[in-house]
Amino acid sequence: MAKTIIISNRLPVQLQISNGSITAVPSVGGLATGMKSVHSGGDSLWIGWSGLTDEEIPEELIPKIDTALAEHGSSKVNLTEKEVDGFYYGFSNRTIWPLFHYFLEYSEFELESWEIYKAVNQKFADAILEKADNEDTIWIHDYQLMLVPQMVRAERPDISIGFFLHIPFPSYEIFRTLPWRREVLLGLLGSDLIGFHTYDYERHFLSSVRRLLGLEVSFNDIYLEDRVIKVDSFPMGIDYKKFSDAAKEHSLRSENEKSDLQKRLDTHKKSAPDAKFFLSIDRLDYTKGIAKRLKAFEYFLNKYPQYKEKVRLIILAVPSRSNVPQYQLLKREIDELVGRINGELSTVSWTPIWYFYRSMPFENLIDLYTSSDIAWLTPIRDGMNLVAKEYIATRTDKTGVLILSEMAGSANEMNESLLINPNNFEQIADSLNEAINMPKEEQIARNTLLQKRLERYNVEKWANDFMNSLVGQKEKDQTSK
Ligand code: UDP
Ligand code: G6P
Repeated sequence: MAKTIIISNRLPVQLQISNGSITAVPSVGGLATGMKSVHSGGDSLWIGWSGLTDEEIPEELIPKIDTALAEHGSSKVNLTEKEVDGFYYGFSNRTIWPLFHYFLEYSEFELESWEIYKAVNQKFADAILEKADNEDTIWIHDYQLMLVPQMVRAERPDISIGFFLHIPFPSYEIFRTLPWRREVLLGLLGSDLIGFHTYDYERHFLSSVRRLLGLEVSFNDIYLEDRVIKVDSFPMGIDYKKFSDAAKEHSLRSENEKSDLQKRLDTHKKSAPDAKFFLSIDRLDYTKGIAKRLKAFEYFLNKYPQYKEKVRLIILAVPSRSNVPQYQLLKREIDELVGRINGELSTVSWTPIWYFYRSMPFENLIDLYTSSDIAWLTPIRDGMNLVAKEYIATRTDKTGVLILSEMAGSANEMNESLLINPNNFEQIADSLNEAINMPKEEQIARNTLLQKRLERYNVEKWANDFMNSLVGQKEKDQTSK
């Protein structure tokens, strides 16, 4: 039977070794959490990196690793420490990630990491070629694997290949600064279908293809030799039912069934029933605007001092890419800011910021989403931002206010939230004030519309739309020959 092969750097789980045994922990990030729901429903194999380097895996554990991954419908690509350094920490996260998020000054152009990126992409392509039967469909994900489509195409010209980019595609003016810009575009053009979260990213990509490769582009079709490649936007959704059901179940829990975190949140709610909880959840990443958000919070409390002791900011920052220097610097900056603001503003009965630097299990994410009056997300630039969608999906009584940066891909579909420019502290402070005072009826009216849309365009619909479009494109391409 034909299957879909999903391929991404991150698998749905990360393996860890402690005391000689293997544990699988869920991967964090929009790609893994979103694709997990798609993967669990169908006949698919997921190929990716286990999270462990070859050097970390003792010989005797190798078969156990394969078994542990097989339980999650996954199969691994082996990477050495040097490959992880050059490919993951290097080219993917010190060149492409900052460049595609418009952090030009953070972007490093090093030939050695580019060479390793190419070699590792070839490893992923080889892993696909080893597992793929003729009728299979290959779905390649994200910026770590942009050369894989062409590498697979070179060996298997007839196989159906889709590629989805989970981060922004930058404007031509930014993209052109990449020394290997042609190779990256040609790598992607090995696909039959290339998907982006938004129409803007799609347009930027087409413009780079036209200007850097001089190819013929008609609407969203690209003509390359005897092939037609389709480019389109598919805004990724969430597993709406999973979040809304979890929130409903959560609301029915008895005192004994509540988590410790929930009990703690309840205690604080009870001691100050009028106080508002602001929530932000992000990987600790400079694109997420966490440091700016902290400064904006301080600005807000100075502009509206009446809210001192009446609001609390809960920050969940999930550790991410901590071998990359920019992430280490950011961690230090955030630690200092939280310390300084709490030090200056706290009173005996009030700590303005609660800061968690860890990842939390799903159950605790639901505790946070359902207990927070306002979700406040301020990315400087973000491909999509699924956290915004998850917050809305958990609001079973339809109350709650989402304040969202207009620089997040999800802002395109979430017009009913309070959209802000993350650099405009004045606007942010006023939006927080507006959110605190927003009448319940207005909250319900806004969230009713948001929920309807999110429920309809859920992650399953997203995956089906992409797959149907890929099948259609393949048929179109074959009949035109
Ligand atoms: N998330 C998680 N564990 C945590 C915090 C967050 O699994 O402790 C998930 C969250 O539910 C969401 C994803 O991580 O699905 C973050 O996706 P988003 O698109 O917001 O940002 P990304 O990390 O992909 O840049
Ligand atoms: C973003 C990227 C994903 C990545 C995730 C987590 O969502 O688009 O490709 O998996 O961040 O980052 P990490 O580096 O831990 O995989």
